[in-house]
Amino acid sequence: MATQRLALRIVNWQRTHGRNELPWQNTRDPYRVWLSEIMLQQTQVTTVIDYYHRFVERFPSVKSLANADIDEVLALWAGLGYYARARNLHACAKTVVDLWQGEFPELAADLETLPGIGASTAAAIAAFCHGQRVAILDGNVKRVLTRYFAIRDDITLTATNRRLWEIAQNEVPSHQLISAQPDAMARYTQGMMDLGATVCTRHKPKCKQCPVQQHCLANELGVPEEFPVKTVK
Ligand code: ADE
Repeated sequence: MATQRLALRIVNWQRTHGRNELPWQNTRDPYRVWLSEIMLQQTQVTTVIDYYHRFVERFPSVKSLANADIDEVLALWAGLGYYARARNLHACAKTVVDLWQGEFPELAADLETLPGIGASTAAAIAAFCHGQRVAILDGNVKRVLTRYFAIRDDITLTATNRRLWEIAQNEVPSHQLISAQPDAMARYTQGMMDLGATVCTRHKPKCKQCPVQQHCLANELGVPEEFPVKTVK
């Protein structure tokens, strides 16, 4: 088990400095959390908000989405881009209805078998809805972790990603922390995303505002922007 130094600070920082008022954060309904996470994969939060409201209004449940005509789903998605997401969204809703009795599975490992849900999205849903101790690893989190641990390995390599997944899993809140703070997994998961999006940015990171500045090796080296290393192929 890791020190919990990162987890503790991220959880506390998220409570006061993270994003806590987004429309999909006032629910643990896996359908709504899943819908928001798919929309957020390649689209900015500010754009997603209106689309999310329209989708939930038109399709309030996974069953209503599964029964919809794909053309109506695509029409509601118009403007969000990456239309494979909308096709997978519909396919996923049908699969949940047909194979899971209309209830999203709880475990990240099961969520990952569904159309359009990768390992990181599966973990985010399981952490937000059920507090499962599973790591996320999207672009923002890779940047935070490669900086924090000064990892100079090329993140386009499979071996590097394997290592980053191990580190990410090692850093999630401990059972002890979760016992003391039942929302620790949700806060930590959201906090890592929020830190990467608002403080530990690709360019000109705001290290002075960072809750883990004192323990970040890239900050100590004075070169946060050198991470992550990504070869251009
Ligand atoms: N990107 C992906 N998931 C997100 C979330 N829950 N909050 C903000 N940005 C995200």
